Amino acid sequence: MVRVIGFLVGLVFAGVLLISLVVGVSNYFSNPPEELAAEALHQHPQHLRLSSDGPFGKFDKAQLQRGFQVYKEVCSACHSLSLVSFRDLHALGYEEPEIKAIADQWQVQVPSINPETGEASSRKAVPSDRFPSPYANEIAARAANNNALPPDLSLITKSREGGASYVHALLTGYRNQSPELLKEHPDAKTPPGLHYNPWFANLNIAMPPPLTAEGQVTFADGTKGTVDQMATDVAAFLVWTAEPKLESRHAAGLAVVVFLLIASILGYLAYRQIWYEAKRKVRVTGPLEPKNQAKSRSAKAKQGVAG
Ligand code: HEC
Repeated sequence: MVRVIGFLVGLVFAGVLLISLVVGVSNYFSNPPEELAAEALHQHPQHLRLSSDGPFGKFDKAQLQRGFQVYKEVCSACHSLSLVSFRDLHALGYEEPEIKAIADQWQVQVPSINPETGEASSRKAVPSDRFPSPYANEIAARAANNNALPPDLSLITKSREGGASYVHALLTGYRNQSPELLKEHPDAKTPPGLHYNPWFANLNIAMPPPLTAEGQVTFADGTKGTVDQMATDVAAFLVWTAEPKLESRHAAGLAVVVFLLIASILGYLAYRQIWYEAKRKVRVTGPLEPKNQAKSRSAKAKQGVAG
């Protein structure tokens, strides 16, 4: 009896679930949800080709130096690199005296304590310091940026979908909103103090366009400083800050694959070596042995059975 009642209760539950599923699906198709402007206008970045891509990728040091120059002259006015030290620039090909000079002349001083009075003060950066934030704390940073916080850029290419391609698309993606676009999506109007950028998830970013004019950064190696070039180089630089050991990871991966390949070949040869006698001794026995098959054929023929 209990079983029957349990079965009936279960049946009622399953029936209610089925009805709500059918009603939900039919509602979805009869009144499809309206597309939000942020979904309709949001753009996905095109792939940015960099020399560090792929399993054999290596950094282009000249490009990383140019990217560092863009960070130093433009982005560092708002963004820190809290996981990168000045002395890490050695990997980009800078020598020690150059790194000391870069740290010494950095526009932003690092927080410190006056050893005589014990009061908070600031001092010039040294090579062991990380790239500092220009703001004393988050409140000061938000106050200066329309209540938005400029994120630390050390890991930004890992923390955003698209990585370097996204950073490049964002930096080159600022647009004016055309009247047709506003007529079609009146709710997409950019609020004052923000900037329209269809590559940013909600279309309106608090960061003013940082790269605006050709030649904004004059590259030491003579490369032309177009907006696209500056955006590409700084994106490549931010790939390095997020994964400075990328080249050794690629090299280790390659060595492991080669090792496994050789080990597999040796393993196969060892297998052949060990079993080479044993395989020869295998014989067909039992009903499949040609002798026995002939016997069974003749017995069947005698009895008049086909096959
Ligand atoms: C005037 C200050 C300022 C400068 C200069 C600046 N940024 Fe920003 N940046 C911001 C602010 C503020 C935000 C946060 C925007 C938001 O959340 O709406 C931001 C956000 C970002 C983001 C994250 C976007 C996201 O998906 O959340 C990236 C990447 C970025 N900036 C890269 C750069 C690069 C690269 C440069 C140099 C070429 C640069 N910024 C220069 C203020 C600045």
